[in-house]
Amino acid sequence: MKDNIAICPGSFDPITIGHLDIIARSAKMFNKVIVVVMSNVHKNGGSFTVEERVSMIKKSVADIPNVEVDHYEGLLADYAASKNAVAIIKGLRAVTDFEYEFQMALTNKKLNPKLETLFLTTSAENMYLSSSMVKQIASMGGDVSDFVPPAIHNDIVNRLKKG
Ligand code: PNS
Repeated sequence: MKDNIAICPGSFDPITIGHLDIIARSAKMFNKVIVVVMSNVHKNGGSFTVEERVSMIKKSVADIPNVEVDHYEGLLADYAASKNAVAIIKGLRAVTDFEYEFQMALTNKKLNPKLETLFLTTSAENMYLSSSMVKQIASMGGDVSDFVPPAIHNDIVNRLKKG
């Protein structure tokens, strides 16, 4: 897999240490990993702007040289084709993720048959972690320092405190 490009797509609203773990592990397997912020029709709007999300991801992956960060408004299958990517990588936390992820993987395969979706099991300590949990805790003044990359901790706390 060393000579190929992989895409790590997501809403990243905001990126968590769970996402970062998947990105870092992907970067060990592929020559280049593109982290792309996309829209999820099931999550309307989001709390952070696309620009804020991209900026926070860039700060979080600054020490991983083969990772690029981008955003895209269209279909993931089209984006992957335009980048000559061979794989989409998603993290799987629990069975609750599985059905939806399986549906997306099969749809993307239909739209772009050259594209494989690979699932990495989340690290055990991140099983319960999600962007929405982080937002809920931070907006109520709780400590999220174990859940988000240190480089963006203050960005998240300051932004969510403001509402
Ligand atoms: O982090 P998320 O919200 O689980 O990521 C889901 C995301 C953004 C990767 C997914 O909704 C997506 O691929 N959106 C782009 C639009 C698209 O291609 N939809 C069809 C996929 S089945």
